[in-house]
Amino acid sequence: MNFHILTLFPEMVEQGLNTSILKRAREASLIGVHAVNIRDYTLNKHGKTDDYPYGGGAGMLMQAQPVYDAYQAVIKKLGTSQGQKTRVVYLTPQGKTFTQKMAQDFSREENLIFLCGHYEGIDERVLEEIVTDEVSIGDYVLTGGELAAMVMIDAIARLAPGVLNNEESARTESFHKDLLEYPQYSRPETWRGREVPKILLSGDHKKIEAWRLEQSILRTEKKRPDLYGKYLETQALIEELSENKLIHMDMIELLRRGEAEFLVKDGEGVLLSPKGTEIAMLYCRNEAAGRRILETFARKDPGTVRNFVAHQTFMFPVLREETGWEEEIVCRQAVYTRGVTLPVGKGLEIRKLTEEYAEFVGNHYDLAGDLCYVRQRIRAGVMYGAFVDGLPAGFIGEHEEGSIGMLEVLPAYRRKGIGAALEAFYVNKMLAEGRIPFGQIIKGNDASMKLQEKLGFRISRDTLCWFSKK
Ligand code: ADE
Repeated sequence: MNFHILTLFPEMVEQGLNTSILKRAREASLIGVHAVNIRDYTLNKHGKTDDYPYGGGAGMLMQAQPVYDAYQAVIKKLGTSQGQKTRVVYLTPQGKTFTQKMAQDFSREENLIFLCGHYEGIDERVLEEIVTDEVSIGDYVLTGGELAAMVMIDAIARLAPGVLNNEESARTESFHKDLLEYPQYSRPETWRGREVPKILLSGDHKKIEAWRLEQSILRTEKKRPDLYGKYLETQALIEELSENKLIHMDMIELLRRGEAEFLVKDGEGVLLSPKGTEIAMLYCRNEAAGRRILETFARKDPGTVRNFVAHQTFMFPVLREETGWEEEIVCRQAVYTRGVTLPVGKGLEIRKLTEEYAEFVGNHYDLAGDLCYVRQRIRAGVMYGAFVDGLPAGFIGEHEEGSIGMLEVLPAYRRKGIGAALEAFYVNKMLAEGRIPFGQIIKGNDASMKLQEKLGFRISRDTLCWFSKK
């Protein structure tokens, strides 16, 4: 991912974003940081980029021309097809306050342009012409946008694939979302008469984990009552969904992992979306609540959702008949609740697939729909292949909402336990990540049902239904 920063002080951002983790990421070409000096683009022969504001007032204003030409230079470098759709972030105290959620959203972009203002601001006309997002890093005024851009870039870059090593990213993937970090201690055991909590020296990892969670909860309640309120709300929802755990496991897992974005909250149900996807998942206690949620959602921003998952059968006809959703797939949910790892068997090589296998997967798996989706899943690092004598014999992956799927074994390799081995492998991977493995079985797929049962999955009695637009 590439950051292009339009600034009058390129050395400031170049240096500021060239230490530690970001330096390592730049050297490994995982991210690119390109400062563009606005002054290089002024047509003024004295190199001026600012002038007095019309109508009078204190200070100087950055002029439109050099800013626009610096922007155009970046667009030209990116090529029009990429450049035209590149988001331009203007750092200003008038913008939306930057959050982790926004960082996640921005981290999905291939390129981002940051515009740093100075003096009393920038001529409004160029802002209208090029800016897509106005962002502030807090309610205070800095002397320029550079520090704010650096804060944003740091928070976004650490989310780019590969920037954090496993150990670092595992911490960010902790399930303690909406909770503050627990207190941490290092050597010595006693410092100025203060002791490390005894439990941390016990070696009992289960107890340590429980203690840390308790500390996180206590801290959040004390220091951030706003976050604590959100945490309690999510816990209550998880509890309610757990009354019929099997059919709601997709939603429960998203909530547990802090990966759910709330589209609509209602006293009697919820519509949520796996972050970064065009999927909406509906849970409602009764049909009236379901209809109410759908109406609220229709007034908001339904254009961003392409797939709708209804978890209550009484909502199927409502969605089918009244809201214009067309295709539908009815599934049962299979959930692996045992928590013990499964034997994968020996002699089969299973490894992460790289993009060169996208077409191979696409050719053997109908439901992948388009190659774009397969590529996206491979890039997310969640597609694995089984290899026999170096040749690909089958594959498995994880869908964007977190279910195990896309399991396929090539005809020549069937009846050798390769499907079961792939699935066992993926179950173990999820267990190691502290997740509850689940998959969705399309009604009528008896082969898949048999395999899930054999592996010890529990199958939901109820069905859920995926609706999508053609
Ligand atoms: N420029 C000046 N102050 C700022 C702030 N608080 N956030 C973003 N950009 C700024």
